[in-house]
Amino acid sequence: MASGWSPAELSPKENADGIAYHRALYHDGDLNRPAGWHEDSVHHLLDLASPHIQNGSVVVDYGTGTGGSAIELLKRLDAAGITIQLILIDPLVSWFSQAREILAHRDDVHFELSIEQDAAGRTQFRRLEDMLDGRKADVIISSSTLHLVPTRALEDLCEQFSANLAPEGILVWDSGDIESELRPDDVACLHDPYRGVREQLRNDEARQAILSEFHTEDAARAERRLDHIFPVPFSMDVILSALEGAGFSSQITDHVVDFDAVDAERFILVPRLAEIAAPLIEGEQRDEAIRDALAQVLAEMETAGTATSQGYRSHWVYGRHSLSG
Ligand SMILES: C[S@@+](CC[C@H](N)C(=O)[O-])C[C@H]1O[C@@H](n2cnc3c(N)ncnc32)[C@H](O)[C@@H]1O
Repeated sequence: MASGWSPAELSPKENADGIAYHRALYHDGDLNRPAGWHEDSVHHLLDLASPHIQNGSVVVDYGTGTGGSAIELLKRLDAAGITIQLILIDPLVSWFSQAREILAHRDDVHFELSIEQDAAGRTQFRRLEDMLDGRKADVIISSSTLHLVPTRALEDLCEQFSANLAPEGILVWDSGDIESELRPDDVACLHDPYRGVREQLRNDEARQAILSEFHTEDAARAERRLDHIFPVPFSMDVILSALEGAGFSSQITDHVVDFDAVDAERFILVPRLAEIAAPLIEGEQRDEAIRDALAQVLAEMETAGTATSQGYRSHWVYGRHSLSG
C-alpha cells in the first residue's frame, strides 16, 4: 500500500478532471496503451534517468500529475527487477488523486501534496526538504512541469533541488513548451495549438456576450486567469541559469515528438485545460467551440509547416544536471 498523502473526498468535477487527463495520456485509461506523444516524450527522459537508478535508490518525481511519468518509470524498473523508493510530488488535487488511485497498491510509492495553507490561510508551496523528511534523492525527475513554474520561483526551486540531492545524484527534466534556439522552424512548442485555440475563442461572440455581463474588473481578472493556463513559453536559458546558479552542471538534448490530432483534441478537452473557453458553459457547446477552433488552428499550422493532416510536431528539451560535474 502506498504511503503519504491521500485525498479527502473529491467532488465529481475533480474526479472527472483527473480521469480525463489520465485518459489523455493513456487510451481508454489503459496503462498498456500510452498516447504516442506521451510515450515518446517521457521515454527520452527515462533514458537519461535510468542509468543512475539502482536497487534502493530514492527517486523523486517533481510534478507527478496523474502519474504519467511515474507509471512509465515504474514499468521500466519492474521489467528490470529494480526496486526503489519513489516519492511523488504535485500540487493539484484533482490530477494527483488519480495518480494515487492508480498507484495506491504499490508499497514502493509515497505521495506528498506540495501545497499547504499558511497561518493566514494563503496557499503556499511546501519545501522539498520538508517533503523528503531528511532523505536525499539519488535522482529527481521532472517531466513536463518546469515550464509551469513561475520564473520568479525557479531560482529557489533549483536551490531546493540542489540541497536535496545526494552528492552523486542527478536531476533530469523535460519540457515541450519552452523556447530555445534548438527548435527547428517546422516544429512548434507543445502548447502552441492550445494558445491558438485561446486566441480563436478570445473574441468568440457567445463568450464575449457572457463576459459582458461581468463587472469590468471581474471580466479582466477572469481573462487573466485563462491566459495563465497555457502561459507564453519562456526561454530554456532561464531554467539553465537558475540551475547553474544552484551549482549544477548541465547537458541539454532535444527531440521532436509527433502529436496526433486526435490526441490533441483529447488533451485540450480535459476539463481543467478546456477552461480556456470559459465562461462558455461546460458541455457539448463549449467542447464543440474548442474542437472547431483546434481544427482551424491545426490547419493554419499545416500551412505554416509545423503540422500535417495527422497532427503537429512538438519540440522537447531534455536537461540532465549533476552537482559533481
Ligand atoms: C503536465 S503535468 C505533468 C505530469 C507528469 N509528470 C507527466 O509527465 O504526465 C504538470 C504538473 O505540474 C504541476 N504544476 C503546475 N504548476 C506547478 C508549480 N508551480 N510547481 C510545481 N508543480 C506544478 C501540475 O499540477 C501538473 O500535475
